[in-house]
Amino acid sequence: MSNSFCFDIVLPRDEICNQHEARDKIWAIVDAGQRLVLFGRRNTGKTSIVKSDIMERFATKHERGLVVFVDLMDTASEADFCVRLQRAFAVAISKSSSSRSIVNKVSQFMKQLKLSINIDQVTGLPSVDLGIGSEQTPIAFERTLGLIAEIHQDHQALLIFDEFQDISFVKSLPAKIRSALQLLPGDLPVLVLGSKKQLLSQMFADPRAPFASWGRHLELPPISAEDYHEYIHTKFKSFGLSMSLDLTKFLLNEMQQIPEAINIVCDKMTKMQTTKSPIDKNLIVQVIHLAVEERSSLFRERLHRFTEKEIQFLRQIALDQPVAKPFAKIFVSATRLSVGGLQSMVSRLENEAMIYRLEEGYVVNDPLLQRFLARGL
Ligand SMILES: Nc1ncnc2c1ncn2[C@@H]1O[C@H](COP(=O)(O)OP(=O)(O)OP(=O)(O)O)[C@@H](O)[C@H]1O
Ligand SMILES: [Mg+2]
Repeated sequence: MSNSFCFDIVLPRDEICNQHEARDKIWAIVDAGQRLVLFGRRNTGKTSIVKSDIMERFATKHERGLVVFVDLMDTASEADFCVRLQRAFAVAISKSSSSRSIVNKVSQFMKQLKLSINIDQVTGLPSVDLGIGSEQTPIAFERTLGLIAEIHQDHQALLIFDEFQDISFVKSLPAKIRSALQLLPGDLPVLVLGSKKQLLSQMFADPRAPFASWGRHLELPPISAEDYHEYIHTKFKSFGLSMSLDLTKFLLNEMQQIPEAINIVCDKMTKMQTTKSPIDKNLIVQVIHLAVEERSSLFRERLHRFTEKEIQFLRQIALDQPVAKPFAKIFVSATRLSVGGLQSMVSRLENEAMIYRLEEGYVVNDPLLQRFLARGL
Protein backbone atom coordinates (compact mmCIF):
# COMPACT_ATOMS: atom_id res chain seq x y z
CA MET A 1 0.00 0.00 0.00
CA SER A 2 1.32 3.47 -0.87
CA ASN A 3 1.50 6.43 1.54
CA SER A 4 -0.83 8.65 -0.44
CA PHE A 5 -4.61 8.59 -0.57
CA CYS A 6 -6.01 7.68 -4.00
CA PHE A 7 -9.05 9.20 -5.65
CA ASP A 8 -10.47 9.59 -9.17
CA ILE A 9 -8.97 6.23 -10.12
CA VAL A 10 -9.71 2.53 -10.09
CA LEU A 11 -7.79 1.39 -7.02
CA PRO A 12 -5.10 -1.25 -7.22
CA ARG A 13 -5.87 -4.27 -5.05
CA ASP A 14 -3.63 -3.29 -2.13
CA GLU A 15 -5.22 0.17 -1.90
CA ILE A 16 -8.72 -1.18 -1.30
CA CYS A 17 -9.67 -0.70 2.33
CA ASN A 18 -11.26 -3.86 3.68
CA GLN A 19 -14.52 -5.08 2.05
CA HIS A 20 -13.09 -8.59 2.39
CA GLU A 21 -16.42 -10.16 3.19
CA ALA A 22 -18.14 -8.59 0.16
CA ARG A 23 -15.16 -9.44 -2.04
CA ASP A 24 -15.25 -13.09 -0.98
CA LYS A 25 -19.00 -13.25 -1.54
CA ILE A 26 -18.67 -11.80 -5.04
CA TRP A 27 -15.84 -14.18 -5.84
CA ALA A 28 -17.80 -17.21 -4.56
CA ILE A 29 -20.70 -16.33 -6.89
CA VAL A 30 -18.42 -15.72 -9.88
CA ASP A 31 -16.45 -18.86 -9.16
CA ALA A 32 -19.67 -20.87 -9.08
CA GLY A 33 -20.52 -19.56 -12.58
CA GLN A 34 -23.56 -17.65 -11.36
CA ARG A 35 -25.02 -14.21 -12.03
CA LEU A 36 -24.77 -11.26 -9.72
CA VAL A 37 -26.04 -7.69 -9.55
CA LEU A 38 -23.63 -5.66 -7.41
CA PHE A 39 -24.98 -2.26 -6.50
CA GLY A 40 -23.98 0.58 -4.26
CA ARG A 41 -23.76 4.32 -4.09
CA ARG A 42 -21.29 6.19 -6.31
CA ASN A 43 -17.63 6.09 -5.38
CA THR A 44 -17.90 3.23 -2.95
CA GLY A 45 -15.43 0.97 -4.75
CA LYS A 46 -17.51 -1.32 -6.97
CA THR A 47 -15.36 -0.98 -10.08
CA SER A 48 -12.12 -1.19 -8.09
CA ILE A 49 -13.19 -4.37 -6.30
CA VAL A 50 -14.24 -6.04 -9.52
CA LYS A 51 -11.33 -4.89 -11.71
CA SER A 52 -8.51 -5.24 -9.20
CA ASP A 53 -9.67 -8.17 -7.13
CA ILE A 54 -12.33 -10.34 -8.79
CA MET A 55 -10.84 -10.13 -12.28
CA GLU A 56 -7.39 -10.92 -10.90
CA ARG A 57 -8.68 -13.93 -8.97
CA PHE A 58 -10.41 -15.19 -12.10
CA ALA A 59 -7.27 -14.73 -14.21
CA THR A 60 -5.19 -16.58 -11.62
CA LYS A 61 -7.59 -19.50 -11.48
CA HIS A 62 -8.23 -19.65 -15.24
CA GLU A 63 -4.92 -18.87 -16.86
CA ARG A 64 -6.39 -19.44 -20.31
CA GLY A 65 -9.62 -17.64 -19.47
CA LEU A 66 -11.30 -14.64 -21.09
CA VAL A 67 -12.56 -11.66 -19.06
CA VAL A 68 -14.80 -9.23 -20.93
CA PHE A 69 -15.35 -5.94 -19.09
CA VAL A 70 -17.88 -3.60 -20.72
CA ASP A 71 -18.46 -0.06 -19.45
CA LEU A 72 -22.02 1.01 -20.25
CA MET A 73 -21.95 4.51 -18.77
CA ASP A 74 -24.18 6.78 -20.95
CA THR A 75 -24.94 4.12 -23.56
CA ALA A 76 -26.72 6.06 -26.30
CA SER A 77 -28.20 3.40 -28.62
CA GLU A 78 -28.23 -0.27 -29.49
CA ALA A 79 -25.42 0.31 -32.01
CA ASP A 80 -23.42 1.99 -29.27
CA PHE A 81 -23.96 -1.05 -27.04
CA CYS A 82 -22.78 -3.36 -29.84
CA VAL A 83 -19.61 -1.34 -30.38
CA ARG A 84 -18.82 -1.22 -26.66
CA LEU A 85 -19.21 -4.99 -26.39
CA GLN A 86 -17.13 -5.53 -29.52
CA ARG A 87 -14.30 -3.37 -28.22
CA ALA A 88 -14.39 -4.99 -24.80
CA PHE A 89 -14.25 -8.39 -26.49
CA ALA A 90 -11.22 -7.36 -28.56
CA VAL A 91 -9.44 -5.99 -25.50
CA ALA A 92 -10.22 -9.21 -23.59
CA ILE A 93 -8.70 -11.30 -26.37
CA SER A 94 -5.57 -9.17 -26.44
CA LYS A 95 -5.15 -9.64 -22.69
CA SER A 96 -5.82 -13.35 -22.68
CA SER A 97 -2.80 -15.58 -22.46
CA SER A 98 -4.39 -17.91 -25.00
CA SER A 99 -5.18 -15.18 -27.49
CA ARG A 100 -3.69 -17.17 -30.38
CA SER A 101 -5.98 -20.15 -29.93
CA ILE A 102 -8.96 -17.88 -29.27
CA VAL A 103 -8.21 -15.91 -32.41
CA ASN A 104 -8.17 -19.12 -34.43
CA LYS A 105 -11.51 -20.03 -32.99
CA VAL A 106 -13.13 -16.72 -33.89
CA SER A 107 -11.13 -15.96 -37.03
CA GLN A 108 -14.21 -15.29 -39.14
CA PHE A 109 -15.39 -12.70 -36.63
CA MET A 110 -11.96 -11.10 -36.50
CA LYS A 111 -11.98 -10.69 -40.27
CA GLN A 112 -15.41 -9.18 -40.25
CA LEU A 113 -14.36 -6.73 -37.58
CA LYS A 114 -11.12 -5.96 -39.37
CA LEU A 115 -9.47 -7.00 -36.14
CA SER A 116 -5.93 -8.16 -36.34
CA ILE A 117 -3.72 -9.59 -33.68
CA ASN A 118 -0.04 -8.72 -33.60
CA ILE A 119 2.74 -10.03 -31.46
CA ASP A 120 5.00 -7.28 -30.17
CA GLN A 121 8.56 -8.03 -31.29
CA VAL A 122 10.11 -6.65 -28.13
CA THR A 123 7.78 -7.84 -25.39
CA GLY A 124 6.39 -10.90 -27.16
CA LEU A 125 2.93 -9.90 -25.93
CA PRO A 126 -0.11 -9.93 -28.19
CA SER A 127 -1.98 -6.74 -29.02
CA VAL A 128 -5.24 -6.42 -30.89
CA ASP A 129 -5.77 -3.81 -33.52
CA LEU A 130 -9.40 -2.81 -32.98
CA GLY A 131 -10.10 -1.61 -36.50
CA ILE A 132 -13.62 -0.41 -35.67
CA GLY A 133 -14.11 2.50 -38.03
CA SER A 134 -17.00 4.91 -37.57
CA GLU A 135 -18.33 3.98 -41.02
CA GLN A 136 -18.47 0.30 -40.11
CA THR A 137 -21.74 -1.30 -39.08
CA PRO A 138 -21.30 -2.84 -35.66
CA ILE A 139 -21.67 -6.57 -35.22
CA ALA A 140 -24.97 -7.52 -33.55
CA PHE A 141 -24.36 -7.94 -29.84
CA GLU A 142 -26.08 -11.33 -29.91
CA ARG A 143 -23.29 -12.54 -32.19
CA THR A 144 -20.50 -11.25 -29.96
CA LEU A 145 -22.16 -12.83 -26.93
CA GLY A 146 -22.47 -16.07 -28.89
CA LEU A 147 -18.71 -16.04 -29.52
CA ILE A 148 -17.98 -15.40 -25.86
CA ALA A 149 -20.18 -18.40 -25.06
CA GLU A 150 -18.25 -20.50 -27.55
CA ILE A 151 -14.90 -19.48 -26.10
CA HIS A 152 -16.24 -20.25 -22.63
CA GLN A 153 -16.66 -23.93 -23.55
CA ASP A 154 -12.87 -24.37 -23.83
CA HIS A 155 -11.38 -21.46 -21.95
CA GLN A 156 -13.79 -20.24 -19.23
CA ALA A 157 -15.16 -16.73 -19.66
CA LEU A 158 -16.34 -14.02 -17.29
CA LEU A 159 -18.63 -11.25 -18.52
CA ILE A 160 -18.90 -7.95 -16.63
CA PHE A 161 -21.16 -4.99 -17.34
CA ASP A 162 -20.35 -1.79 -15.43
CA GLU A 163 -23.02 0.95 -15.00
CA PHE A 164 -25.49 -1.54 -16.43
CA GLN A 165 -28.57 0.53 -15.57
CA ASP A 166 -27.67 3.02 -18.30
CA ILE A 167 -28.99 0.62 -20.98
CA SER A 168 -32.47 1.38 -19.68
CA PHE A 169 -32.32 4.77 -21.43
CA VAL A 170 -32.39 2.93 -24.78
CA LYS A 171 -35.88 1.78 -25.66
CA SER A 172 -36.42 -1.99 -25.83
CA LEU A 173 -32.70 -2.72 -25.41
CA PRO A 174 -32.99 -4.24 -21.89
CA ALA A 175 -35.48 -6.87 -23.07
CA LYS A 176 -33.25 -7.81 -26.01
CA ILE A 177 -30.20 -8.08 -23.79
CA ARG A 178 -32.12 -10.19 -21.30
CA SER A 179 -33.03 -12.66 -24.06
CA ALA A 180 -29.45 -12.82 -25.28
CA LEU A 181 -28.06 -13.35 -21.78
CA GLN A 182 -30.54 -16.15 -21.27
CA LEU A 183 -28.98 -18.02 -24.18
CA LEU A 184 -25.53 -17.99 -22.59
CA PRO A 185 -24.30 -21.23 -21.00
CA GLY A 186 -25.74 -21.63 -17.50
CA ASP A 187 -22.28 -21.76 -15.92
CA LEU A 188 -20.89 -18.60 -17.53
CA PRO A 189 -20.59 -16.02 -14.74
CA VAL A 190 -22.13 -12.64 -15.48
CA LEU A 191 -21.51 -9.70 -13.17
CA VAL A 192 -23.61 -6.56 -13.41
CA LEU A 193 -22.58 -3.37 -11.58
CA GLY A 194 -24.70 -0.32 -10.98
CA SER A 195 -24.92 2.82 -8.91
CA LYS A 196 -28.37 4.20 -9.70
CA LYS A 197 -30.66 2.36 -7.34
CA GLN A 198 -33.93 3.61 -8.74
CA LEU A 199 -33.13 2.53 -12.30
CA LEU A 200 -31.71 -0.79 -11.14
CA SER A 201 -34.79 -1.59 -9.14
CA GLN A 202 -36.99 -0.70 -12.13
CA MET A 203 -34.97 -3.21 -14.16
CA PHE A 204 -34.55 -5.97 -11.60
CA ALA A 205 -37.12 -5.70 -8.83
CA ASP A 206 -40.40 -5.03 -10.61
CA PRO A 207 -41.96 -8.44 -11.39
CA ARG A 208 -42.86 -7.23 -14.91
CA ALA A 209 -39.39 -5.81 -15.54
CA PRO A 210 -37.08 -7.38 -18.14
CA PHE A 211 -34.60 -8.60 -15.54
CA ALA A 212 -37.11 -9.71 -12.90
CA SER A 213 -35.65 -12.60 -10.89
CA TRP A 214 -32.35 -12.41 -12.80
CA GLY A 215 -29.31 -13.33 -10.74
CA ARG A 216 -28.47 -12.68 -7.12
CA HIS A 217 -28.25 -9.21 -5.63
CA LEU A 218 -25.62 -7.73 -3.35
CA GLU A 219 -25.32 -4.21 -2.00
CA LEU A 220 -21.80 -3.12 -1.16
CA PRO A 221 -21.84 -2.35 2.58
CA PRO A 222 -20.14 0.73 4.06
CA ILE A 223 -16.63 0.28 5.46
CA SER A 224 -16.61 0.21 9.26
CA ALA A 225 -15.06 3.18 11.09
CA GLU A 226 -12.51 0.86 12.74
CA ASP A 227 -11.29 -0.47 9.39
CA TYR A 228 -11.12 2.97 7.84
CA HIS A 229 -9.31 4.26 10.89
CA GLU A 230 -6.60 1.65 10.47
CA TYR A 231 -6.31 2.48 6.76
CA ILE A 232 -5.96 6.21 7.45
CA HIS A 233 -3.58 5.58 10.34
CA THR A 234 -1.22 3.48 8.18
CA LYS A 235 -1.01 6.21 5.55
CA PHE A 236 -0.81 9.07 8.06
CA LYS A 237 2.14 7.48 9.86
CA SER A 238 4.60 8.33 7.12
CA PHE A 239 3.57 12.00 7.39
CA GLY A 240 3.96 11.97 11.17
CA LEU A 241 0.21 12.48 11.55
CA SER A 242 -2.34 10.80 13.76
CA MET A 243 -6.03 11.12 14.52
CA SER A 244 -8.27 9.57 17.17
CA LEU A 245 -10.91 6.96 16.30
CA ASP A 246 -13.59 9.42 17.38
CA LEU A 247 -12.34 11.95 14.86
CA THR A 248 -12.24 9.32 12.12
CA LYS A 249 -15.89 8.63 12.96
CA PHE A 250 -16.59 12.36 12.77
CA LEU A 251 -14.90 12.62 9.36
CA LEU A 252 -16.71 9.54 8.02
CA ASN A 253 -20.00 10.96 9.19
CA GLU A 254 -19.32 14.36 7.63
CA MET A 255 -18.49 12.65 4.33
CA GLN A 256 -21.50 10.30 4.55
CA GLN A 257 -19.19 7.23 4.60
CA ILE A 258 -18.25 7.80 0.94
CA PRO A 259 -14.66 6.56 0.53
CA GLU A 260 -13.68 8.89 -2.27
CA ALA A 261 -14.68 12.04 -0.38
CA ILE A 262 -12.92 10.73 2.75
CA ASN A 263 -9.74 10.09 0.76
CA ILE A 264 -9.86 13.57 -0.78
CA VAL A 265 -10.05 15.20 2.65
CA CYS A 266 -7.32 12.97 4.12
CA ASP A 267 -5.08 13.66 1.14
CA LYS A 268 -5.48 17.36 1.73
CA MET A 269 -4.54 16.99 5.38
CA THR A 270 -1.28 15.29 4.42
CA LYS A 271 -0.43 18.08 1.99
CA MET A 272 -1.06 21.10 4.19
CA GLN A 273 2.00 22.61 5.82
CA THR A 274 -0.01 23.70 8.82
CA THR A 275 -1.40 20.25 9.74
CA LYS A 276 -0.36 19.45 13.29
CA SER A 277 -0.57 16.09 14.97
CA PRO A 278 -2.78 14.93 16.60
CA ILE A 279 -5.40 16.26 14.23
CA ASP A 280 -8.36 18.04 15.83
CA LYS A 281 -11.96 18.65 14.81
CA ASN A 282 -11.32 22.25 13.75
CA LEU A 283 -8.75 21.14 11.24
CA ILE A 284 -11.12 18.57 9.73
CA VAL A 285 -13.85 21.19 9.36
CA GLN A 286 -11.37 23.61 7.82
CA VAL A 287 -9.97 21.04 5.38
CA ILE A 288 -13.45 19.99 4.22
CA HIS A 289 -14.16 23.66 3.57
CA LEU A 290 -10.92 24.01 1.57
CA ALA A 291 -11.62 20.84 -0.43
CA VAL A 292 -15.04 22.27 -1.39
CA GLU A 293 -13.46 25.63 -2.33
CA GLU A 294 -10.91 23.90 -4.50
CA ARG A 295 -13.62 22.11 -6.41
CA SER A 296 -16.00 25.02 -6.78
CA SER A 297 -15.33 25.67 -10.47
CA LEU A 298 -15.67 21.95 -11.18
CA PHE A 299 -19.01 21.89 -9.32
CA ARG A 300 -20.25 24.96 -11.19
CA GLU A 301 -19.34 23.20 -14.42
CA ARG A 302 -21.21 20.08 -13.32
CA LEU A 303 -24.30 22.10 -12.44
CA HIS A 304 -24.32 23.79 -15.84
CA ARG A 305 -26.35 20.92 -17.29
CA PHE A 306 -29.22 21.62 -14.92
CA THR A 307 -31.97 24.22 -14.95
CA GLU A 308 -32.19 26.92 -12.35
CA LYS A 309 -35.16 25.16 -10.77
CA GLU A 310 -33.26 21.90 -10.57
CA ILE A 311 -30.34 23.64 -8.90
CA GLN A 312 -32.71 25.32 -6.48
CA PHE A 313 -34.19 21.93 -5.67
CA LEU A 314 -30.74 20.37 -5.19
CA ARG A 315 -29.80 23.20 -2.89
CA GLN A 316 -32.90 22.61 -0.79
CA ILE A 317 -32.04 18.91 -0.50
CA ALA A 318 -28.47 19.87 0.47
CA LEU A 319 -29.79 22.11 3.23
CA ASP A 320 -32.43 19.75 4.61
CA GLN A 321 -31.01 16.30 3.91
CA PRO A 322 -32.01 13.59 4.42
CA VAL A 323 -35.34 14.62 2.88
CA ALA A 324 -37.80 11.80 3.47
CA LYS A 325 -40.70 13.46 1.71
CA PRO A 326 -39.68 15.79 -1.11
CA PHE A 327 -43.34 16.08 -2.13
CA ALA A 328 -44.54 17.22 1.28
CA LYS A 329 -46.18 20.61 1.63
CA ILE A 330 -43.27 22.20 3.48
CA PHE A 331 -40.78 21.16 0.87
CA VAL A 332 -43.07 22.20 -1.97
CA SER A 333 -43.44 25.67 -0.49
CA ALA A 334 -39.71 25.99 0.22
CA THR A 335 -38.84 25.24 -3.40
CA ARG A 336 -41.92 26.99 -4.87
CA LEU A 337 -42.39 24.10 -7.28
CA SER A 338 -45.51 22.09 -8.07
CA VAL A 339 -45.78 18.48 -6.90
CA GLY A 340 -45.90 17.30 -10.53
CA GLY A 341 -42.81 19.33 -11.36
CA LEU A 342 -41.02 17.90 -8.35
CA GLN A 343 -41.81 14.31 -9.26
CA SER A 344 -40.17 14.46 -12.67
CA MET A 345 -37.29 16.46 -11.24
CA VAL A 346 -36.57 13.85 -8.57
CA SER A 347 -36.57 11.15 -11.17
CA ARG A 348 -34.24 13.04 -13.53
CA LEU A 349 -31.82 13.97 -10.75
CA GLU A 350 -31.75 10.37 -9.55
CA ASN A 351 -31.10 9.13 -13.09
CA GLU A 352 -28.25 11.61 -13.35
CA ALA A 353 -26.85 10.29 -10.03
CA MET A 354 -27.08 13.78 -8.50
CA ILE A 355 -29.29 12.62 -5.64
CA TYR A 356 -29.56 9.26 -3.90
CA ARG A 357 -32.35 7.74 -1.86
CA LEU A 358 -31.30 6.38 1.51
CA GLU A 359 -33.72 4.73 3.93
CA GLU A 360 -33.90 8.05 5.81
CA GLY A 361 -34.57 10.08 2.67
CA TYR A 362 -32.95 11.80 -0.30
CA VAL A 363 -29.43 13.20 -0.11
CA VAL A 364 -27.08 14.88 -2.56
CA ASN A 365 -24.97 12.01 -3.88
CA ASP A 366 -21.56 13.66 -3.65
CA PRO A 367 -20.84 14.81 -0.06
CA LEU A 368 -18.50 17.62 -1.19
CA LEU A 369 -21.04 18.89 -3.73
CA GLN A 370 -23.62 18.83 -0.93
CA ARG A 371 -21.38 21.20 1.08
CA PHE A 372 -20.92 23.41 -1.93
CA LEU A 373 -24.68 23.66 -2.54
CA ALA A 374 -25.53 24.17 1.11
CA ARG A 375 -23.13 27.07 1.60
CA GLY A 376 -24.64 28.93 -1.43
CA LEU A 377 -23.25 29.14 -4.95
N1 LIG B 1 -12.54 0.27 -0.22
C1 LIG B 1 -12.00 1.45 -0.53
N2 LIG B 1 -10.87 1.88 0.08
C2 LIG B 1 -10.32 3.06 -0.21
N3 LIG B 1 -10.83 3.91 -1.10
C3 LIG B 1 -11.95 3.56 -1.75
C4 LIG B 1 -12.59 2.32 -1.50
N4 LIG B 1 -13.68 2.23 -2.28
C5 LIG B 1 -13.73 3.36 -3.00
N5 LIG B 1 -12.69 4.17 -2.71
C6 LIG B 1 -12.47 5.52 -3.29
O1 LIG B 1 -13.48 5.74 -4.27
C7 LIG B 1 -12.91 6.00 -5.56
C8 LIG B 1 -13.80 5.43 -6.63
O2 LIG B 1 -13.78 4.01 -6.62
P1 LIG B 1 -14.56 3.17 -7.72
O3 LIG B 1 -14.48 3.87 -9.03
O4 LIG B 1 -14.06 1.79 -7.62
O5 LIG B 1 -16.05 3.28 -7.15
P2 LIG B 1 -17.43 2.91 -7.86
O6 LIG B 1 -18.32 2.43 -6.78
O7 LIG B 1 -17.19 2.05 -9.03
O8 LIG B 1 -17.93 4.35 -8.33
P3 LIG B 1 -19.00 4.71 -9.51
O9 LIG B 1 -20.32 4.28 -9.07
O10 LIG B 1 -18.88 6.19 -9.61
O11 LIG B 1 -18.54 4.02 -10.74
C9 LIG B 1 -11.50 5.45 -5.49
O12 LIG B 1 -10.61 6.13 -6.35
C10 LIG B 1 -11.15 5.70 -4.03
O13 LIG B 1 -10.78 7.06 -3.85
MG1 LIG C 1 -17.68 2.33 -11.06
